[in-house]
Amino acid sequence: MRPPFVIAVDGPAASGKGTISTDLGAHYDLPMLDTGLLYRAVGVMLKRQGGDLDDAGAAAKVARDLQAGDLDDEAFRTREAGECASRVAVHPSVRAALLDLQQVFARRPGGSVIDGRDIGTVIAPFAPAKLYVTADAEVRAERRFRQLRGRGEDVTFPDILEDIRRRDARDGGRSDAPMVQAPDAVLLDTSQMTIERATDAARRIVEAARARWEISR
Ligand code: CDP
Repeated sequence: MRPPFVIAVDGPAASGKGTISTDLGAHYDLPMLDTGLLYRAVGVMLKRQGGDLDDAGAAAKVARDLQAGDLDDEAFRTREAGECASRVAVHPSVRAALLDLQQVFARRPGGSVIDGRDIGTVIAPFAPAKLYVTADAEVRAERRFRQLRGRGEDVTFPDILEDIRRRDARDGGRSDAPMVQAPDAVLLDTSQMTIERATDAARRIVEAARARWEISR
């Protein structure tokens, strides 16, 4: 049986995943799930309760209690929220608690666009279209720096570059569902690309995958 048309978009922080996913969602009229937001919500909500990010049990409880309505919060977009997210994301019990919600979404018959770190490998290994979006750490830091500054955060470029490097190491080095390119994912390096070129390249990759998926049964 042909799987639903899931577009899995994985890659490191500030690589362009979010922009590309939004464009693909609009282009193919597919619902989207930003899975980073789930980890951001767990990290920030745990911290608000005065909890310890290294306490796997407490973090997993927050993850289990998470409601869809909790996700709409500007506080999840900050620099600190990204750091909190990657710290709670190392706990296997947190990942397990968020698995069902993500897999139910991935099985929607009409298809979807899902962005994260482990979508093509763990959440939707069956996805007919997989992208691994990356860019040089300096380029990503520059993008994230501008984005956070634009939102009024008082950050410096060297601090953001350090955040990006630390997060890459933590996300790629964890034992459970590390950030890695799935063997059947297409690599898209956006270091030298404008947003327009990157979304264009992503659409072409997905178009090829869609043509293969359409003739499959
Ligand atoms: O926007 P940015 O790329 O900075 O981060 P994000 O996609 O919102 O993800 C924040 C953090 O959540 C990542 O650094 C990962 O540690 C974690 N995450 C994960 O472990 N698995 C996912 N599928 C998505 C995010």
